[in-house]
Amino acid sequence: MTILVTGARGNVGRRVLQRLYAAGHSLRASGRNPAELDVPEGVETVALDLNDPETFVPALAGVSKVLLYAEPDGIVQFLDEAEKAGVESIVLLSSNTVALPGADEDPLAHHHKVVEEAVVASGLTYTILRPGAFMSNAFGWSYSLQAGDTIDQVFPEAQVAPVHEDDIADVAVVALTEKTLQDQVVDLTGPESLTFRQELEIVGEVLGRKLVVNGLTREEGEAQMSNFVPPPVLTSLLNQWEAAVGVTADTSATAERITGKPARTFRQWVEEHAAFLA
Ligand SMILES: NC(=O)c1ccc[n+]([C@@H]2O[C@H](COP(=O)([O-])OP(=O)(O)OC[C@H]3O[C@@H](n4cnc5c(N)ncnc54)[C@H](OP(=O)(O)O)[C@@H]3O)[C@@H](O)[C@H]2O)c1
Repeated sequence: MTILVTGARGNVGRRVLQRLYAAGHSLRASGRNPAELDVPEGVETVALDLNDPETFVPALAGVSKVLLYAEPDGIVQFLDEAEKAGVESIVLLSSNTVALPGADEDPLAHHHKVVEEAVVASGLTYTILRPGAFMSNAFGWSYSLQAGDTIDQVFPEAQVAPVHEDDIADVAVVALTEKTLQDQVVDLTGPESLTFRQELEIVGEVLGRKLVVNGLTREEGEAQMSNFVPPPVLTSLLNQWEAAVGVTADTSATAERITGKPARTFRQWVEEHAAFLA
């Protein structure tokens, strides 16, 4: 009864792997280049590119459950091979963008929606996790924090309810190891709605620095972020943030209800990652 953890190098997959390992499960970790994976001792690694069907059969042999990252190209073949291999259930890391207004025209939402629909149509048991913005997006400020105290931010008054990757991983582990979340869609948010400006205030307080937020126009933000964010994703993000200016982000107690622990706060995330942020 091996659990395949795709995205084992990712913010969520890495944490899921650590938790399942600590609980003694039989595990296989995958990445497009398994040599890059840093896994606990004794965990098997395998090459899996979700866009390359030739890699599917060896990765799925003997697997009963999969933590799946959302990659639309190849998803139908992947799920076919999963069924043939005897996989019982899929836990999909999707995104709350699927449920936002305008999702049908949004490239980021479309990316996840295609995979969600394929998973539901596959007939396999599933859990779809739909987190909102990850707290680790704050690493996007690292470069500016290393350069000085003035931080550029487009739409600084946009509100998000960032979710801690440990909470996503805790919920994913419940989905992979218990039956309570079978055939459910699980929306996950952090515990509080914060503007980007408030997030940066918290970063400054934890780092003991007086940060100045330099608000950028959409065009300025687009020019700056296009250096490291692909164009369709960038448009999607800017649209989301523009729509979130002055709007309290929805928060839910779902993570707490499932894990039995209060959702971790953004301040806690910053305290844990302060050494890597700046
Ligand atoms: N950041 C957010 O605010 C946010 C919010 C909601 C949902 N999400 C979704 O969460 C996911 C990102 O999660 P994360 O932060 O944990 O990831 P991450 O740290 O950015 O890592 C990305 C992972 O995706 C894997 N991957 C990429 N292309 C792949 C492919 N073709 N085949 C197999 N694996 C592939 C990479 O594996 P290798 O490079 O090792 O192959 C890596 O492990 C995305 O689907 C994103 O849309 C993110």
